Amino acid sequence: MKGFAYLLFAVVALTGVVAYMAHASAHSDAEADPIFGIKIPPGYRDWKLISVAHEEGNLNDLRALLGNDVAIKAYRAGKLPFPDGTIIARLAWSYVPSEENNKVFGRSQSFVAGAATNVQFMVKDSRKYAATGGWGFAQFKDGKPDPAAALKTCFPCHDPVKARDFVFTRYAP
Ligand code: HEC
Repeated sequence: MKGFAYLLFAVVALTGVVAYMAHASAHSDAEADPIFGIKIPPGYRDWKLISVAHEEGNLNDLRALLGNDVAIKAYRAGKLPFPDGTIIARLAWSYVPSEENNKVFGRSQSFVAGAATNVQFMVKDSRKYAATGGWGFAQFKDGKPDPAAALKTCFPCHDPVKARDFVFTRYAP
C-alpha cells in the first residue's frame, strides 16, 4: 500500500512538472505585438464561430471569425458596445481549388482552405486601449507578430463601423 502511495505521489508530481513545462514553453514562445502588447490568446483555435468570409483580390482567402466566450455572449445578446474581455479572432487561409472534391462533383466548383495566411485579433479593454476605440489590434504570421507599421492601419480602417463598436462582422445565424 505504501509503495502504491509513493507511486501515486510520483505520478502526480511528474504530471505537475510536465504541465508546468508545457505552460512555461507556451509562454516563452509567445511574442507580444509591438504596439498593443497582445500575445496569441491560448486556445483561440477552439473558440466558437461568429461567421465566415471570403476576400478576393490580392488577399484571395477564406476566413473564419471566432470569438471567446465574452464575445459570443455579447453577440448573441446583441449587446453593444462589446464588454471588456471580448476577443475576436480572424483566421485566414489561401483560397484554393480542390481537385479531389471537383472529381466527385464532376466539375470545377470546389474551393477549400489552403495554407494559413495570418491571424488577427481585436481585444477589448476600454481603459488600456482608450485611444483606439477601446480595442487593441494584433496580427500574427506563423506565430510571429507583425511590425508596428502594419498595426497603425487597423483602427483607422475599422472607423466606418464605429456605430457597431468598430466591428464589421455580424453574427451568422
Ligand atoms: C483596409 C481596411 C482594413 C484594415 C487596414 C484592417 N481591417 Fe480588419 N477588417 C476590415 C474589414 C472590412 C473586415 C470585415 C471583413 C472581413 O473579415 O474580411 C475586418 C475584420 C476584422 C476582424 C474581425 C472583426 C470585424 O471587425 O469584423 C478583426 C479581428 C480585424 N479585422 C483585425 C484587424 C487588424 C488586427 C488589423 C491591422 C493589422 C486590421 N484589421 C486592419 C477592414 C480592415
